[in-house]
Amino acid sequence: MEKTVKRIGVLTSGGDCPGMNAAVRAVVRTGIYCGIEVIGIRRGWNGLINGDVVRMDVDSVAHIINQGGTILYTARSDEFRTEAGQQKAAATCKLLGIEGIVAIGGDGTFRGCLALAKHGVSVVGIPGTIDNDIGCTHYSIGYDTAANTAVEAIDRLRDTMQSHERCSVVEVMGHRAGNLAQYVGIATGATAVLVPEVAWDFQRDVAERIRSARLSGRNHFMIIVAEGAFNDDEIMKYPGSANKIAEMIRDELGIEPRVTVLGHIQRGGSPTARDRVTATRMGYAAVEALVAGKTNRVICHQNGAITDMDMEEALQVPHYLSMHQEEVLQAMTGIVE
Ligand code: F6P
Repeated sequence: MEKTVKRIGVLTSGGDCPGMNAAVRAVVRTGIYCGIEVIGIRRGWNGLINGDVVRMDVDSVAHIINQGGTILYTARSDEFRTEAGQQKAAATCKLLGIEGIVAIGGDGTFRGCLALAKHGVSVVGIPGTIDNDIGCTHYSIGYDTAANTAVEAIDRLRDTMQSHERCSVVEVMGHRAGNLAQYVGIATGATAVLVPEVAWDFQRDVAERIRSARLSGRNHFMIIVAEGAFNDDEIMKYPGSANKIAEMIRDELGIEPRVTVLGHIQRGGSPTARDRVTATRMGYAAVEALVAGKTNRVICHQNGAITDMDMEEALQVPHYLSMHQEEVLQAMTGIVE
């Protein structure tokens, strides 16, 4: 790679996810490999506003590929949403000679990138969120680890639900997206799965499925609910959906479900091999893009390939829920329409 930039920054922003450290490591090591200096920016956009920076070297990212969380910390910055905040961030870049930024996060992070780019800083985004709800990419870092964490927890729950012949209602993260709930629902053989993107009816999709499972001889039931299944700002407030569904089950069927909100457990833990490798490939591609003189790009995973897309266009791509997986789920849960 022939370099066109001398110094770049890397930051993590928004909700964290397993694999962020692997992406930071890849950005730092690719940068060094290309003869570029890499500056770690701590606490997301706030770090850029406040000059909260640290020089990165090969050692500063040693032994983090297997660690959850982010060594750079993360934050949601209200100040960076203002023009004054963006100007301060751009001034930090100018002062420190940071010509390009790699930002790891979700849609909000990419909108922040575009704001900074208006001040002449090159930007590249890497998708990292356990929700896997970024339309331009088929895969975002953290999803596989979060799904496996949820599956392991639900398998454990199933053991005790089975012993006690109970109904379990499990809330999985995803306040606007049901990707995680749908995927985990297939992997755990759930009785019913409720997600925000697919219209559902309590009688048809929950009560009747429990009745039908009971009539087929099953005596424990696993209902998976996405955090935002109700698509309703009031109930969506965490934790909400699972408690509401449990109440409806109690009223309708006269059984006492047990509620488990998996919550932030899903955001932690050592990343799976898939997340480590994807994060490393994306980190490499992000530096490659900056070195090639590109800006306003999002690194995407499309049909197995790592590509990059214009950031404004990327933000226009609607969030995608697999309809094939939805059909499979409908078949597995017993009601085919
Ligand atoms: O990372 C995305 C997400 O996990 C959503 O599914 C969830 O609603 C949200 O983050 C909660 O984030 P926080 O508690 O950090 O505000």
